[in-house]
Amino acid sequence: MCGIIGALVTDRDAAPLLFDGLRRLEYRGYDSAGIATLDGDGRPTRRRAAGKLDNLQTSLYAAPMKGRSGIGHTRWATHGPANETNAHPHLAGPIAIVHNGIIENEKPLRAELAAEGVTFESDTDTEVIARLLHRELQRGSSPEDAMATVMPRLAGAFAFVCLLAGEDDLMLAARQGTPLALGLGDGEAFCASDALALAPLTRRVVYLEEGDWAVLRRSGAEVRNRAGETVDRPEVVTEVSGALVGKGNFRHFMEKEIHEQDEVIGYTLRGLIDGLGGDIAKPSLPAMPFDPKTLSKITIVACGTASYAGQIGKYWIERLARVPVECDLASEFRYREPVLPEGGMVLAISQSGETLDTTEALRLGAAQGQITAGVVNVPESTIAREARFVIPTKAGPEIGVASTKAFTTQLAALAVFAVALGLERGALTPEAADGHLRSLTEIPAAIRTILHGPVIRRAEAIAHDLVDKHTVLYLGRGTSWTVAMEGALKFKEISYIHAEGYAAGEMKHGPIALIEEGTPVVFVAPEDGLAEKTLSNMRQVRARGGEVILVTDEKGADRFGELAEHVLEVPTVDPLWAPIALTVPVQVLAYETALAKGTDVDQPRNLAKSVTVE
Ligand code: G6P
Repeated sequence: MCGIIGALVTDRDAAPLLFDGLRRLEYRGYDSAGIATLDGDGRPTRRRAAGKLDNLQTSLYAAPMKGRSGIGHTRWATHGPANETNAHPHLAGPIAIVHNGIIENEKPLRAELAAEGVTFESDTDTEVIARLLHRELQRGSSPEDAMATVMPRLAGAFAFVCLLAGEDDLMLAARQGTPLALGLGDGEAFCASDALALAPLTRRVVYLEEGDWAVLRRSGAEVRNRAGETVDRPEVVTEVSGALVGKGNFRHFMEKEIHEQDEVIGYTLRGLIDGLGGDIAKPSLPAMPFDPKTLSKITIVACGTASYAGQIGKYWIERLARVPVECDLASEFRYREPVLPEGGMVLAISQSGETLDTTEALRLGAAQGQITAGVVNVPESTIAREARFVIPTKAGPEIGVASTKAFTTQLAALAVFAVALGLERGALTPEAADGHLRSLTEIPAAIRTILHGPVIRRAEAIAHDLVDKHTVLYLGRGTSWTVAMEGALKFKEISYIHAEGYAAGEMKHGPIALIEEGTPVVFVAPEDGLAEKTLSNMRQVRARGGEVILVTDEKGADRFGELAEHVLEVPTVDPLWAPIALTVPVQVLAYETALAKGTDVDQPRNLAKSVTVE
């Protein structure tokens, strides 16, 4: 989390460019923001503001910052409250620094410096890096030597960028565990947490590898690896677009992204399926660098909403391809000494391709000889670059912190992967695969119908009842259980009302105790083989005064509708792929409730879109 950016420019001021970059990086955190530049006398001056970027903007408008070298930061607080004192950049002697990540050995390092009489201005671990570098400079080291000495002393996952007083043509940048890209311009140089922030400045990008640090000048970058050796890292021309994504006619990015789902699922599927216009449709995934027939197991690793995509993917892959699949939260997988069989695959699912736990889980798989694979939305991201087999989703930039279109495109990609594996392993005939793919391509039209039908109006009405509730229970069976969990996650993260997703069959073992007169219970229950059992659960809820909000398909509405206070109905689609369609009403319900409560839908409190700390 935290977004960092740096610029060495020529005949213009750096601050406006840095601020524009911070706007693109705001998805990484929005607790505070700041910029430092080297001004007339060559010393760093800084401007910081607690809260969102708008606060910093007000200050920059009032008094623009001068200077052609600068760094900027948008913060997601880890060490110390989100106030101006802890906002970056931090200063130590001649150094100005911005940092993303956590220095895990901050305490002993701080104590070591304090024992030498060094005093600190902030509670941040960031200042420790700057003070260490300052100490080396005071001892007479060159900036390069100071970096070479300090880097091996820092533990944790981090990236940082420094400016030095009097060094108008120098930036020091380091990456260990969290992303940092260098941008090479025409007599200018840049660096940032991602290529999205660099795209309007330059398309020539050098991605630092783990443990790398760089001395950046307007003429180019010199990169050293963990061992201090000078290394060549390839320059790539980024495909990431520099266009700022707008909200169009929508009130929030989340609303816009919900409404884009039919289109982006369509793009994703078109990229992964061939022959739809002909006799037989077949998957056209990137070449598989492994033999699908001998694949022994797939271990899916992901965080948050992406992990729910993985859980649904597990049902599909096991059913269609007959490969055992385990789906693990990346943060758990990393520390539980998993047993990974020979010939197995670790499949990371990630919108950003940068989530630290997911990236590290993939690396753990690689270290244990697993085939590494990724379902990733951001091309050129760490997971997209490190996985051997990548299935791209084509959701486009997702700006709302609560994931919507990234999730449904992940499902679309996993669906094609399940069919492809089934076909390659002989678990599906070409005709059966063709049937599954064709029914999958009907999903975008079904989503269009949902978004243009009564679901939004109904969700708006339900939301007005929900704003005063303390808890909402979400129940479902099979893949609808996962949709229920995703619905509960979406609901709580943007409305701040407690919500819990549970397997409907498990309701009797605990959650039923929550139900009293008026407790809302969202049932995700299409007409599938489990309908009869879900019906009994609904009756049990009703018998205790619970209010049923039913998310279902046409047949389910006929069958269960009379037990529900409210019905959010989707068109009937192939039951296998129904979770993609059923997700849309739970997204809309969360959105409408947040709207009714007046919360910050796109930037909910305490959250960030890309989680690059543990
Ligand atoms: C954060 C975001 C979620 C996302 C999760 C995983 O929690 O708010 O929307 O699902 O990270 O992110 P990834 O980029 O790896 O999919």
